[in-house]
Amino acid sequence: VLTPFREILEERRAAGAAAGAFTCYNGETASGVLRAAETAGVPAVLLVSAGSLRAPGGRFLLPMLRAAAERAGVPACVQLDHVADLDLARAALEAGAEAIMADGSKLPYAENVAYVRAVAAEAARRGAGVEVELGHIEGGEDVAAATAAGALTDPDEAAAFVAETGADCLAVSIGNVHGAYAAPPDLDWERLARIRELVDLPLSLHGASGLPDGDVQRAVSLGIAKVNVNAEIRARLLVELERRLPEAQPGANLLDLGGALESAVAEVVAAKLELLGGGVAAKEDAA
Ligand code: 13P
Repeated sequence: VLTPFREILEERRAAGAAAGAFTCYNGETASGVLRAAETAGVPAVLLVSAGSLRAPGGRFLLPMLRAAAERAGVPACVQLDHVADLDLARAALEAGAEAIMADGSKLPYAENVAYVRAVAAEAARRGAGVEVELGHIEGGEDVAAATAAGALTDPDEAAAFVAETGADCLAVSIGNVHGAYAAPPDLDWERLARIRELVDLPLSLHGASGLPDGDVQRAVSLGIAKVNVNAEIRARLLVELERRLPEAQPGANLLDLGGALESAVAEVVAAKLELLGGGVAAKEDAA
């Protein structure tokens, strides 16, 4: 069921849980993500990276993901992830993105505010949501390399930033990175708690691949309402692809291969969703 980004995040926040947001590069990833979310009885955000929109076939990706979200048995929406290009953000909104991660985190503060406001104005015309980033989450979106943490989010500045931009969600930089952690992750929990005190918006944690399960759960308990996962799904897909290729090659069987890849994605996603709380099982326990 296509559901507004804001509504998904607010509902998860109220449930003391977090929404899982998973990068989808094709139909197999999207259906694997949604299958896991439907089994768990939780919403899902289908992320699309700016790089994959520019890649071959990229112009078909967003409409396909939107169709997948519409047909999902759980609340779902499509978000264009980290984009620093207003034209691409606009094109994604036109193609059916329900939210934009307006990433001006490499810009000076005032330019970041101006950029986010421009995206927010476009998004508002279509009832779409906007996520912002302050401080900088290092690391590649589509390619994982060992990465050290970037500039951390300043809690006071974050409070001013969300007030000035009218954002719906703030991505925190508390030692998290995209891709692979160069050193064992050491998240700044006090900083997260302070941001939580000062910013009354759903907060998101990017770079969940490679974080210990306990860290993800702790982040949710400290108020993270959205958790982004990408690299672990890609890595698992490639392992599965290598494993299945020998069976697929003799008959050039793409269909069995697709099914195996979808299941591999669903497994990774199911394991992450379990850490985020608020699923069917949790509701049944509470009843
Ligand atoms: P990982 O690739 O580290 O899981 O990060 C995903 C992410 O934060 C996408 O925005």
